[in-house]
Amino acid sequence: MQLKDKNIILGITGGIAAYKAAFLCRLLIKEGANVKVVMTPNATEFITPVTLATLSKNTVLIDFFKHDDGSWNSHVDLGLWADLMLIAPATASSIGKMANGIADNLLITTYLSCKAPVMLAPAMDLDMFKHPSTTKNMDVLKSYGNILIEPTSGELASGLEGKGRMEDPEKILEKVSNLFISKKKLQNKLKHKHFIVTAGPTYEKIDPVRFIGNFSTGKMGFAIAESLAESGAKVSLISGPVNIKAQHPNITTFSVLSAKEMHKKAVELFAISDGAVMTAAVADYAPENISDKKIKRNNSKFNLNLIANPDIAAELGASKTNTQILVGFALETNNEEENAQKKLQKKKLDFIVLNSLNDSHSGFGHNTNKITIIDTNNNVEKFELKTKKEVSLDIVSKIIDISKSK
Ligand code: C5P
Repeated sequence: MQLKDKNIILGITGGIAAYKAAFLCRLLIKEGANVKVVMTPNATEFITPVTLATLSKNTVLIDFFKHDDGSWNSHVDLGLWADLMLIAPATASSIGKMANGIADNLLITTYLSCKAPVMLAPAMDLDMFKHPSTTKNMDVLKSYGNILIEPTSGELASGLEGKGRMEDPEKILEKVSNLFISKKKLQNKLKHKHFIVTAGPTYEKIDPVRFIGNFSTGKMGFAIAESLAESGAKVSLISGPVNIKAQHPNITTFSVLSAKEMHKKAVELFAISDGAVMTAAVADYAPENISDKKIKRNNSKFNLNLIANPDIAAELGASKTNTQILVGFALETNNEEENAQKKLQKKKLDFIVLNSLNDSHSGFGHNTNKITIIDTNNNVEKFELKTKKEVSLDIVSKIIDISKSK
């Protein structure tokens, strides 16, 4: 019973693969999940709501309103109830509506209200799947952090052969279970531990209105802070200027502006912590002097003297005790693994998380990331493209493994 008491919205859209949703629903129920089925009106042409109501042991939701008594189905309540929204099959049309917020049926409004992870299993004819419009919409959904379950190749309803068959219900169940297992693996494993996470960019002031900064959004660091907190740790999140807020009660956020401020807070807190995850994109240099007045344009050339900022990670590495864990990041554009190895040693890290700017959907600003973890025993573990939330679970899993041997 891997899904015991998990609340799952099963969204079914109008494609021939909708019949497979009945098997999927049965498998989810057998694993102990509470399933509420939401169908698009077109899906009811392919499989009857009675079948799904019977299998899910719940009323099937299709319309916004119940015309006989004037009541309405709340997509907001549904979205909040769910631990997962799984849309299988997902047609080209529904994928397009999800990507563009076209909320003309209950399934799409529920999707837009849903706070839980979203997985979708596309199913369509091979040419529809290959069309640039579908590809673009799927990329948009990936960038929202939605998890795509790739269709398989084979004979399609049209009689043509190619990629577009919905993944088998058993395989979809496996992916759903894995998502919950990795979350469960973390539960309470870091109770009574205190971790520091640095996140976001730093801004190095030039004058009262200008600064040197970078494109970091803080998403990766905040996801790690959240996963550490979900594992029971107390987290001190030292963040540069970002537009996101940490929600978990175990997280205390310290907002800083410059590398020097981040350095001061990190050194102060590291001494009383069990480890640190250095996710921040710290500016390597800062202006030597900050002008107290706005610098005027006059000559055609302008020279700015820069001096090196402290390397926070390296300094924590030098003061690290045998029981403390230090994790660093490396965002590389060339000789990725070689450069990451060098940083691992130089900064005395326990492991380094490498993400390359050469991987699309990875790095600054994206909701997804493709990482490689390299540790001091020279283990190199390459992960597939995942949401930053999933990536943070992999990183925290590694921290839990290492903390056992400390
Ligand atoms: O040397 P590089 O900047 O590529 O190293 C990246 C790693 O070092 C990241 O973990 C980053 O947070 C950390 N770092 C730091 N202080 C700096 C520069 C980088 O903590 N001044």
